[in-house]
Amino acid sequence: MSSQTEDQPHTPITKWLFLVGGVILTAGLLFGYDQGVISGALVGIEKSFTVSTFMVEIITSWVTLGALVGALVAGVLSDKVGRKKAVLLAAVLFTFGALVEAFAPGAWVLVAGRLIVGFGVGVASVAAPLYAAEMAPTRLRGRFVSGYQFGITFGIFLAYLIDELLSSGDRWRLMLGISAVPAVLLIVLILPSSDTPRWFLTKGRRADAESALERIRPDDTAQAMAELEASVEGETEQAGWAEVFSRTWRRPLTIGIGLAVFQQVTGINAIIYYANKIFAAAGFITPQGQTAATTWAIGAVNVLATLIAVAFVDKLGRKPLLLAGLVGMSVSLAVVGVCFWFINRSGPTTTGGPSDAGLITLVALVVYIASFAFSLGPVVWTVINEIFPRNIRGRGVSIATAANWGSAWLVSQFFLSLVDTIGESGTFMLFAALSVVAFIWILKVLPETRGRSLEDIEQMWLDEPGQAASPAS
Ligand code: BGC
Repeated sequence: MSSQTEDQPHTPITKWLFLVGGVILTAGLLFGYDQGVISGALVGIEKSFTVSTFMVEIITSWVTLGALVGALVAGVLSDKVGRKKAVLLAAVLFTFGALVEAFAPGAWVLVAGRLIVGFGVGVASVAAPLYAAEMAPTRLRGRFVSGYQFGITFGIFLAYLIDELLSSGDRWRLMLGISAVPAVLLIVLILPSSDTPRWFLTKGRRADAESALERIRPDDTAQAMAELEASVEGETEQAGWAEVFSRTWRRPLTIGIGLAVFQQVTGINAIIYYANKIFAAAGFITPQGQTAATTWAIGAVNVLATLIAVAFVDKLGRKPLLLAGLVGMSVSLAVVGVCFWFINRSGPTTTGGPSDAGLITLVALVVYIASFAFSLGPVVWTVINEIFPRNIRGRGVSIATAANWGSAWLVSQFFLSLVDTIGESGTFMLFAALSVVAFIWILKVLPETRGRSLEDIEQMWLDEPGQAASPAS
């Protein structure tokens, strides 16, 4: 069965595939904007409502909790109602949540808005990459799913820029409300698209599957249909949770969750959320200096380096990119750790600007962001969306994505306390050590999935030594 579902090398990119690209980019943009915007909005929120520090933490982090729940629900949802309707629901919820946030009369209504937005982001973070992975031709699958990460990084960058632009006065409502615009765009893009041929077939809707395939593979629809039918083999029901946790699929499940957790515990969101504070500690004393460093050294570099992954993920493969990125991340985090040790020992600079150690910190953080952006950022999402067999794909992706949101929440919630307890130096050293662990783990457990069809990957797990012969063990 190995290469029978491999598509032709010259599968044309139809206008429908462009639409899929638009959906995935916009879904990523929503995710990223949401990650990036809150740091700038908090100042205004604190002025409008009298809120305790605890409330500030809730306003910041509950969007991630909402996303965790959304991601868990999204697996079953996208198996039941389809990938398209799940994305649509996410976009509608997101639009509604953004408006609730923008017009919130008090802090608790704002929190409710944050939860709704979070839930929408969580559903979209499962359904949209899943949709793209199942629509994309094999040879472009990595690129399509990396497009999601490109959207995320662009969203973060946009949020930093808009925060800067609207930073004066009480304009936090606008900062949060603006995210309704890409949410509406997502509705507009997903409405004319169809669901994935694979999902239609698992629901026994052969004619719909065929017309969806005609749109994305007009040149060889019949062949593609035959391949897909062979791979679905009369399976019309999605498996339940027991199958997801069965011994047969333990490897992809462990890999999916492991990658999701490592993507977060190596520090990315501590830097995305708290970049201004880190730069302040490194000696960038003016708020303008801090925001400029955050917007350009973090935001823009993050976007640009993601393009490296988009260009190479289907050429070089997933594993080389992950390993190379982790080398860059470990080294740069260790350098930041050492720099902070010097900065904290020598106290504030007398000139008022960043010290040498502060400037080296800036350079090291640029190396860190660039290394993350061409590796763990996009490749983790790509791999999570291709390793699960078709009948548990929705639920598997959903568990891994929820693990990602859970770890993102932990890191963003406890980063500042960790810094208080073990200092900046110790915290960055810890992230560096975890990057080394991630490197060794990936080197040992991750098989290369580049160029393999989704059906091929499924067979690969079944062919492993010690594996039960049937998927229903
Ligand atoms: C991660 C996000 C992170 C972003 C940064 C994504 O892959 O899942 O948590 O904020 O990359 O670019």
